[in-house]
Amino acid sequence: MPVDVLLGLQWGDEGKGKIVDCLSSRYDIIARFQGGPNAGHSLEFDGKKHILHTIPSGIFHKNIKNLIGNGVVIDPIVFDSELKQLNMDAEELNSRLFVSNKAHLILPTHRLLDKASEVLKGKSKIGSTLKGIGPAYMDKTGRNGLRVGDLFKSDWDQRYQAIVDKHFDLLNLYPIETDFDFDLEQNLFFEKLEILRKSSVVNSLAFLQNAISKNQKILAEGAQGTLLDIDFGTYPYVTSSSTTSAGACIGLGISPRSIHHVYGISKAYTTRVGKGPFPTEIFDHHATFLLKNGNEIGATTGRQRRCGWLDLVALKYAVELNGVSHLILTKGDVLSGLDKFQVCWQYTINGSVTKHFPYDLNQRKLRPQLKEFEGWQQDISGIKNKKNLPKPFHKYLHFIENYLTIPVHIISVGPDRSQTIYE
Ligand code: GDP
Ligand code: IMO
Ligand code: MG
Repeated sequence: MPVDVLLGLQWGDEGKGKIVDCLSSRYDIIARFQGGPNAGHSLEFDGKKHILHTIPSGIFHKNIKNLIGNGVVIDPIVFDSELKQLNMDAEELNSRLFVSNKAHLILPTHRLLDKASEVLKGKSKIGSTLKGIGPAYMDKTGRNGLRVGDLFKSDWDQRYQAIVDKHFDLLNLYPIETDFDFDLEQNLFFEKLEILRKSSVVNSLAFLQNAISKNQKILAEGAQGTLLDIDFGTYPYVTSSSTTSAGACIGLGISPRSIHHVYGISKAYTTRVGKGPFPTEIFDHHATFLLKNGNEIGATTGRQRRCGWLDLVALKYAVELNGVSHLILTKGDVLSGLDKFQVCWQYTINGSVTKHFPYDLNQRKLRPQLKEFEGWQQDISGIKNKKNLPKPFHKYLHFIENYLTIPVHIISVGPDRSQTIYE
């Protein structure tokens, strides 16, 4: 079975970029299967930090191919700015990076529609990254979307104009004030389309099937997290794609039978950007501690992330939903220095206790039941061997493993590639 999947088990930002980079050398191909520029995947090595939005996190490794799959939505403007930051010549880039001809495009009007939709929702807004994700996926499922392959068709101009006209008809229904300079954005979009046309656009299905027939190994890289999944997340406070392991099949065109390991990533605590329920959210000095120590600032929008304790009820739900075979725990180092910290192991809903993740997390009477753990004071960010981690860390780890009934495979103790403890 040639495909492994790596994905987030919480509300995103679990450290997917870092871990994909760490695991890349085990694979021939790294393939993103959903999401778009709403994602911000950070990785660090040689004292430098890189943030990727659409490009898979294996891009810094020579001789590894990176595929942007059919399930991804691409904004050519963001894509070009990412390419520029890579600082690679065109030949090198085109041998490392491949784009599915079936990936959908985000148009400038999708970003406008995203903003309009949020303004109209008022208090109940999602807290979208405003990258045009929802409207682009709506056009995909509404069968109006434009795909990368359409860029090479003779009727591109007419099709583009038809959809933009439709968008403006819609926008007329939303009287919002915006400083969006459409002509400027559209000109930039046209300019960047040329860059996309010159990239290695492929029939991604044939690309992957050919790799599989040669026994090559593929790592499918997820974006966002399980609790932001369109079907299984905390709807409607979710994104618009399938972020779970099943999404890898749809977003790449691979059979469920070809999936082997499912790597699920969780922080040692929880964060969330944007709006929506978050049972273990905290507001006291511990929240400030996690925010500061964990540098919890969104990689895409620069917004502060909301912080809280690890929620094992939600994590178990995510582990089961994805069929996680290997757990990866990141940011344990951030807890260093706390006297005590907490973890949620069950909920009380309307007076009854449950370990099941409920249909509607917005229920007002939901209370997380917390278990307290002893902290540790030492800096663990330089530890290379699991046995050297402090005793209280091991106690926490055992509790998590016993609760989830799967072992922790990798422990990440810092943002750098080197700060990683492998089983
Ligand atoms: P992603 O979206 O899942 O790829 O995660 P992000 O890159 O958005 O956010 C994770 C943040 O934590 C980034 O700034 C990483 O550099 C950083 N990070 C990843 N793993 C660790 C870790 O184990 N410890 C610490 N302190 N930071 C980490
Ligand atoms: P990575 O891949 C964290 C959140 C937004 C918002 C909701 C919907 O870096 O983990 P959207 O722009 O999709 O309409 O926003 O989802 N969100 C993320 N939160 N990490 C992400 O990606 C996210 N992508 C979207 O904050 O609440
Ligand atoms: Mg992120």
